[in-house]
Order: sequence, then C-alpha cells, then structure tokens
Amino acid sequence: MDSADPQPAAASPEWFDDNRRNWDDRAAVHVASGYGIQDLIDAPQAIPDTLAPGLPHLGDLTGASLIHLQCHLGTDTIGLKRQGAGRVVGVDLSGESLHRARQLVTECRADIEYVEPNVYAARAAFDGEFDVVFSTLGVLCGCPMSPPGHRS
Ligand SMILES: C[S@@+](CC[C@H](N)C(=O)[O-])C[C@H]1O[C@@H](n2cnc3c(N)ncnc32)[C@H](O)[C@@H]1O
Repeated sequence: MDSADPQPAAASPEWFDDNRRNWDDRAAVHVASGYGIQDLIDAPQAIPDTLAPGLPHLGDLTGASLIHLQCHLGTDTIGLKRQGAGRVVGVDLSGESLHRARQLVTECRADIEYVEPNVYAARAAFDGEFDVVFSTLGVLCGCPMSPPGHRS
C-alpha cells in the first residue's frame, strides 16, 4: 500500500460492504453456536467469559457513560452494563449483529442503545460524550484504514 494513497483498496466502500455481509452471516452462525447468550438471559448478573479478564483494568464503571465499538451480538455490552454503567451505546456496521443484540437487550431487560455506522463514521452517529470507549477481541481486521494524520 502506498501510504500517500487516501483511499486504499482495502478500505473502499466495496471492501466495507463485503466486511458487513461477512459479519451479517457470522451473526446467525454465532447465535446458533450458543455464544454464552442463554447464560446471560438466565442469570441477571452473569458476564461473558470473554469480558471477565479485562474488567479489573476498566476500574469502577458505576454510573459511567460507555461506548462499545464493534460490539457484534452485544454480549460484552450486556456485561459492561451489568457493572453499573450509566448510558451504554453499542456500535457495529452489521445490521444482523445489531438485530441479535437488540433481541438480547430485550430478553435481559437492559437499557442499551445501538447504532449502525462504520466505526470510522461513528462519531456522527450519536450525541454526547463518553467516559469509557471499549473494544475487544477480533476488531482490528475490520479497520484497515490508518487513523487521520497517521503515516506508516
Ligand atoms: C470479532 S467481532 C467482535 C466480537 C466481540 N469482541 C465479542 O466478543 O463478541 C467483530 C465485529 O466488528 C464489526 N465490525 C468489523 N469492522 C467494522 C467497522 N469498520 N465498523 C464497525 N463495525 C465493524 C463486525 O460487524 C463484528 O460484529
């Protein structure tokens, strides 16, 4: 990749469309695999195994406003809300992932907002500021563009 190229092929609109379709397909596969979803529905204080190791690094989330980037099915998002967070917003470009995430929110009786932009356009998709910006496993492969001002 030429670092002077402002629109590398790996970040074209077509690339993001393929990426979104891939994650739309995976959402159904992940739900069918279990993904710890029933545990979250059955136990009101349950948190995903994927989230637990990182929680001590986040400090006290009581009342904190939090945005979860590339939240997929929203399982970690539920776990974060259960730490006592205040406003919680999940961001993901896969509409099918967010459809499943909204179903989980209903079943868990949680209060979480979901928005569906590409993460590069996320700032324009919601109002307000956040105390915590969270993202975790498996997200960097969906972010082929360098941050603004970065030259590699
Ligand atoms: C590996 S999953 C995240 C899994 C999550 N960490 C978990 O534990 O459940 C990656 C997610 O990132 C989303 N994603 C990938 N590229 C994105 C982008 N550029 N903008 C927004 N969401 C993106 C996908 O739709 C997918 O839901």
